[in-house]
Amino acid sequence: MAAEVRIPKATQGAVAGLAARGGPVLVLTGAGISAESGIPTFRGPEGFWRVGSRNYLPQELATAAAFARMPEALWTWYLHRRGVCAAAAPNPAHAALVRLERELRSRFLLVTQNVDGLHARAGQERVLEIHGNLHLARCAAGCGHGPAPLPAGLPQTLARDTALDRAALDLLRCPRCGAWLRPHVLWFDESYREDLYRSESALAAAARAELLVVIGTSGATTLPARIVGEVARRGRPIVAVDPEPGPFPEAAQRTPGGAFLRGRAAELVPALVAVLTGAEPGA
Ligand code: APR
Repeated sequence: MAAEVRIPKATQGAVAGLAARGGPVLVLTGAGISAESGIPTFRGPEGFWRVGSRNYLPQELATAAAFARMPEALWTWYLHRRGVCAAAAPNPAHAALVRLERELRSRFLLVTQNVDGLHARAGQERVLEIHGNLHLARCAAGCGHGPAPLPAGLPQTLARDTALDRAALDLLRCPRCGAWLRPHVLWFDESYREDLYRSESALAAAARAELLVVIGTSGATTLPARIVGEVARRGRPIVAVDPEPGPFPEAAQRTPGGAFLRGRAAELVPALVAVLTGAEPGA
């Protein structure tokens, strides 16, 4: 028995028509698509991170200034998060986007803010990681090394307040110039770049998209807001999937043929992809 499709009939008709018209389909994802894989969202209740006696918000820690001040504490945080991400598995929403890519081929492109690597692990190929990937590192001094996979031999799992031993600290050095390695992620006090984060390519895709699907993002960062704004300005439909209302669901509802599908990604994205591809839900 196919899963009951949770998409209202009126929206099904509109969405089915969008994909049939042809043209590029752009998908934008945020932390919400990985929430059901067990990875905390960024602004969710998981909140603080303790360093010494002080609590920090992730937005205070994920900065170049914090890394310059306390590189070992930052690496502990990122290696802990890397362990959480490595232990997580892609969920049905990730799998559904892989099905959509296989159906649409060169018409499909995914732009993700997530650094957890779950889209690639699910088999996604046409992905722009506009905030980087925490499984990769590069030279903090900018000598040109990386982005490259983190050195083997680093702890695969790390409790939140573990001090890194000498062996781990030695591995976190640039093999080319000896400076610190840094996580290949975009920090809050840094700017988007095409060479490292494919930001211009993401905007170019927004300028061509005939349909934008936005999944699990609060709209707090600039490039995703520019992508949504560009598709909306061009009068193309936006479909937003999120359990909560917010700026992107509101923008979606204002676009011709757009829709806000209120609910969880793991339930709604397979149903949406089934409508977009004309397949049975969960196919
Ligand atoms: N299914 C779909 N969406 C969900 C789910 C779920 N099961 N659970 C939560 N969400 C939604 C929330 O309602 C919220 O809109 O996911 C969104 C998560 O928002 P944030 O935590 O702000 O994450 P995100 O939008 O990805 O943050 C963007 O900001 O913090 C920086 O660089 C960081 O990439 C991150 C960026």
